[in-house]
Amino acid sequence: MTHFRLLTQNGQGHDADEEQLAIEVLTGLTAEPKHLSAKYFYDDKGSEIFQKITQHPDYYLTNKEVEILTRISCQLAHLIDEQEIDIIELGAGDGHKSQLIIDGFLKSGCKVNYYPIDISEKAMVMLRENIRPDSSLAIHGVVAEYFEGLKLVRSQSSNRQLVLFLGSNIGNFNREQSQGFLRKLWMSLSASDYILTGYDLKKDVNKLTAAYNDGSGLTAQFNLNLLHRINQELGGNFKPDKFQHYGIYNPVLGAMESYVLSTEKQEVYIKALQRVFHFDAYEPIHLEYSFKFTKKDIEDLCEQTGFTLVQNFTDANEHFIDSLWQVTKEV
Ligand code: AVI
Repeated sequence: MTHFRLLTQNGQGHDADEEQLAIEVLTGLTAEPKHLSAKYFYDDKGSEIFQKITQHPDYYLTNKEVEILTRISCQLAHLIDEQEIDIIELGAGDGHKSQLIIDGFLKSGCKVNYYPIDISEKAMVMLRENIRPDSSLAIHGVVAEYFEGLKLVRSQSSNRQLVLFLGSNIGNFNREQSQGFLRKLWMSLSASDYILTGYDLKKDVNKLTAAYNDGSGLTAQFNLNLLHRINQELGGNFKPDKFQHYGIYNPVLGAMESYVLSTEKQEVYIKALQRVFHFDAYEPIHLEYSFKFTKKDIEDLCEQTGFTLVQNFTDANEHFIDSLWQVTKEV
């Protein structure tokens, strides 16, 4: 019997993805101020750079979350206390953080069905190399959008479910989007199921700013890679060295914001759109929000979306929180 299965949803396919990118680039570059969506950061090159960012000391988020998960993995299994559990991870990445959680459950004698859900088949290949299935651990990789994947998993199992949404991915949604996302998650789960979400906390602005302006220039490369991607996939003629990365904390929003600024007045042609875009000197393109949270923000979100907060787990410096919530529903 094999314990690694790959479940794939019928995706839209490459042409539809490119069309979607083209539409969003057109909308974003004709808007005032210009913007592009951070969801397009993650082509193969972008994912590779992001992986390096997570290992860079300035980008403290990953280290802090690993510190938390290493410490709490057995405690988590104790708190949830099941004989068999489905651990469903949204946006699985390479799986090294999930491995820490899975190990806690396995050590406590709990059988684990791990369902990493990721839109990229490449993530599943990395996972396969990093997490080894055995008789107590079955892995079912799901290549799909989060909620499609979740629906697929739930159609196959009636075990207690723990959904992981780690790495401060929630921070890339604005406040309304996070509420909508968490409420949709609540609707997709059964009473007493759990979610564990990673939140980066509000802190000294210098620390935040350094994380998004790392000393090795990886974040700059990561953001400028989007211009390379538009060149490659849509036939653009962006000159990325004529754009500058700019990462700044907005205390009113409570979010890091990333821009690229055109360092001179210039024109860019994009063949797939058959259109020229004009940039003034130092005109910005907004790329990403990374929202930061207080404990109170996390408690409010929990209450607003129908969960009960079981426990907040933080690192020694209180930079990051993994928050465990349980679905409250009348049965
Ligand atoms: C994926 N996401 C949580 C990262 C963040 O911190 O917002 C993406 C990132 N952008 C720049 N550095 C990392």
